[in-house]
Amino acid sequence: MLVLGIESSCDETAAAVVEDGTRLRSSIINSQTAIHTSFGGVVPEIASREHLNRIVEVVDLAFTKANIEQEDLDGIAVTTGPGLIGSLLVGVSFAKAFGYALGLPFVGVNHIEGHIYSVAFDNPPVEYPALALIVSGGHTNLFYVPAPGRYKVVSRTRDDAAGEAFDKVAKMLGLGYPGGSLIERLARSGDASAIRFSVAQMSDGRPDFSFSGLKTAVAKYMRAADMRALEPDEEPSQAVKDLAASFQATVIRSLIETTGRMADMHQPRTLIVAGGVACNESLRDAASSLAASRGIPLYLPSRHLSTDNAAMIAAAGSVRLAVGERDGLDLNADVTLRLQNYDVEDENLRGRVHYRL
Ligand code: KG4
Ligand code: ZN
Repeated sequence: MLVLGIESSCDETAAAVVEDGTRLRSSIINSQTAIHTSFGGVVPEIASREHLNRIVEVVDLAFTKANIEQEDLDGIAVTTGPGLIGSLLVGVSFAKAFGYALGLPFVGVNHIEGHIYSVAFDNPPVEYPALALIVSGGHTNLFYVPAPGRYKVVSRTRDDAAGEAFDKVAKMLGLGYPGGSLIERLARSGDASAIRFSVAQMSDGRPDFSFSGLKTAVAKYMRAADMRALEPDEEPSQAVKDLAASFQATVIRSLIETTGRMADMHQPRTLIVAGGVACNESLRDAASSLAASRGIPLYLPSRHLSTDNAAMIAAAGSVRLAVGERDGLDLNADVTLRLQNYDVEDENLRGRVHYRL
């Protein structure tokens, strides 16, 4: 089964062709980073216009690279949310029009579920129950996944997402956007134990994450140390590298400690770590030590599939298309689409994925 995936929820226009849900035939990503960099973040209006300008050529290229014709396709999967409304609508409208014109079935996919399916390509099939840590610029959630397509949020961020914290601290340090990879590069030559930032604990005892206090702690530290944002071509000092390394280590400690506690509680048979922040080598190492210490296999996406892409959307959509699920022309974008359909009281719940707002 050949499925075309389309992703346009934020600032990447992406299309991919995936065979039988696990074989990557092509994955094209047109990143708008260069356009948004000068604004220090994604400008929604510009993002949606750019999606509109690019989507046809990105899809064309996905067909060319996969070496298939449009007629070879069996279905289409498209991100319907969460994301930026104007951006999402470009992908959703395109997928519906394309599906209608070719007489092909199409399904909407939750972007976060897509990130979970990004591990479908470079790993053996997922063994359930699984625990999935999704860490990106917009989301930081830990899901308990008892069976395919069933999700229970066990931990969520109370404020900033982990990637967002990387982006904001990078901005404070004058590193540019997006900040994750820039902080990681600096952190490599910094001392992670130089500054001891504390990991936020929830007063109600819930296993949730919080990163906005850490961001404030970094700002306070910078003020106290008389540290300012770097100028464009300024060489970072050792103190800046130490700060980047200490910040990064604190984010990772928070993610890993909670994931460890939840793994002990839920006893998963697979640990999944995905999303843009999963590009981070230190996080990958820490997750791999955690998984080894609990004797659980760790599934990570390749770096290419950690950040936003359409292959993961095609993989998630393939599962639904294969069992005959279809969406209609009333399919719409949903900015706040959540992924949580598992009722603890209802262990036997089966069947179609229901997204609850
Ligand atoms: O999944 P993604 O491409 O988009 C969202 O769905 O949000 O994630 C982008 C996020 C950005 O916040 C970026 O700073 C972060 O992933 N990121 C990283 C690294 N590479 C990307 N964070 C930490 N270390 C990295 N190497
Ligand atoms: Zn994402």
